[in-house]
Amino acid sequence: MIKPKTQFICQSCGSIYTRWIGKCEQCNQWNTLVEDNNVKPSGVLSKSKGKRVNFQKLNEVNYEYSRIKTNLNELDRVIGGGFVPGSVTLIGGDPGIGKSTLLLQLVGYLSNQNQKCIYVSGEESLSQIKMRADRLDIKNHDIEFASVTNASDISMTINSEKQRCILVIDSIQTMYLPQLDSSPGTVSQVRASAHELILAAKKTNTILILIGHLTKDGAIAGPKVLEHMVDTVLYFEGDNNFQYRILRSFKNRFGTNNEIGVFEMCNNGLKEIINPSALFLSDRQKNIPGTAIFAGLEGTRPILVEIQALVVHSKLGSPRRIIVGWDISRLSMLCAVLEARCKIHLSNMDIFLNVAGGIRLFEPAADLAVAAAIISSVKNIPISFNSVFFGEIGLSGEIRKVSQPELRIKEASKLGFDIINLPTKQKVIINEDMSYNNLTVMSELVDLISKDNKN
Ligand code: TYD
Ligand code: MG
Repeated sequence: MIKPKTQFICQSCGSIYTRWIGKCEQCNQWNTLVEDNNVKPSGVLSKSKGKRVNFQKLNEVNYEYSRIKTNLNELDRVIGGGFVPGSVTLIGGDPGIGKSTLLLQLVGYLSNQNQKCIYVSGEESLSQIKMRADRLDIKNHDIEFASVTNASDISMTINSEKQRCILVIDSIQTMYLPQLDSSPGTVSQVRASAHELILAAKKTNTILILIGHLTKDGAIAGPKVLEHMVDTVLYFEGDNNFQYRILRSFKNRFGTNNEIGVFEMCNNGLKEIINPSALFLSDRQKNIPGTAIFAGLEGTRPILVEIQALVVHSKLGSPRRIIVGWDISRLSMLCAVLEARCKIHLSNMDIFLNVAGGIRLFEPAADLAVAAAIISSVKNIPISFNSVFFGEIGLSGEIRKVSQPELRIKEASKLGFDIINLPTKQKVIINEDMSYNNLTVMSELVDLISKDNKN
């Protein structure tokens, strides 16, 4: 008999090793390797015989393509206009951010539309779920709940369901397959349980929604492979100190990436925020140096955010760069460009940068607004209250074009901004009263802000 092999799997990134080592060579994490005895010996694999595959022509394939809308407009927007039958969605987020609340509200809405909903929790007991449902005022008595963790039982149950259903698993890390020796939460269990549930969902056209935990680095716990296995990956972000929560699509086979939905956590659950720009700008103060408004784009949605910079003399040998909501390497690059091309000396200054409202920006188009906020703080000159910025900055100090200027300008116009600072040739006339500053190089931005002082 061939002896079963042992392998060691990194619980952080899923890399496989034949012997135990203290530090994973792929992701550099310590003590993340766990023994896994469940490997088929290679002899067994090579002996198994395959079957001939039946191919099909595309015109012989039929599909049901009516999306199921949830009534939560912000969620519908993020998933691309409703759930596709047979699709698998993974929602990741920090503990306490509101994943369970969002999905409980979701099954509440869907069951009101006569969809069959099943909510399986491996984390909370039925009485705890009932308590939360009462708090959220979910009155529908057709939702079916179970507090189980065996993934085979769940897949067998949905295979035997006659009606197509919506299945929520809270969370995939608590699920396990009894055939595997490893304990729940390990990479092999998470992967195998997800695989089992996904197969069942695809076969029965079930809409499967998995909740995933995040590791301390912010990736979905369990290997990256979980993200490859599902159709849509959403991240539920936000700071626990803020009430706002942002649902962001990270991967979507049926929609746009990086689409966001904004919610507010209230006493009785999550409420949608229909006009996030107005919310992010609500606490703005007039005549403060160091703030600039960025006309950004998240997926297909334009959004205005306030960027705040504070630049002060540093008492430390190496000055501090403290950032909330933006990328530190991008800031270092901008500082270098400001030093080299505009003679603004920042090497002995502490820089504090904050994107107000708790949102995280990923777009390079934010460069121009960040640079404007920094210049305004260094020169102690407030920027005109009704102006917005967008544009990417290159290493030679040139201001580059960005995508979709019309959407950004329209949003700015809607909220009463009438001075648009933008890369050259991206002007789009929305209304005649607006003025445009076409910028080609960074020194023009410095001149523009200095001019504000004289007015
Ligand atoms: P929860 O959905 O349990 O988070 P997750 O499943 O992501 O871990 O959310 C828990 C947090 O939300 C908790 O801090 C309490 C808060 N909360 C409210 O503020 N209002 C509510 O109506 C509910 C249900 C929760
Ligand atoms: Mg939860």
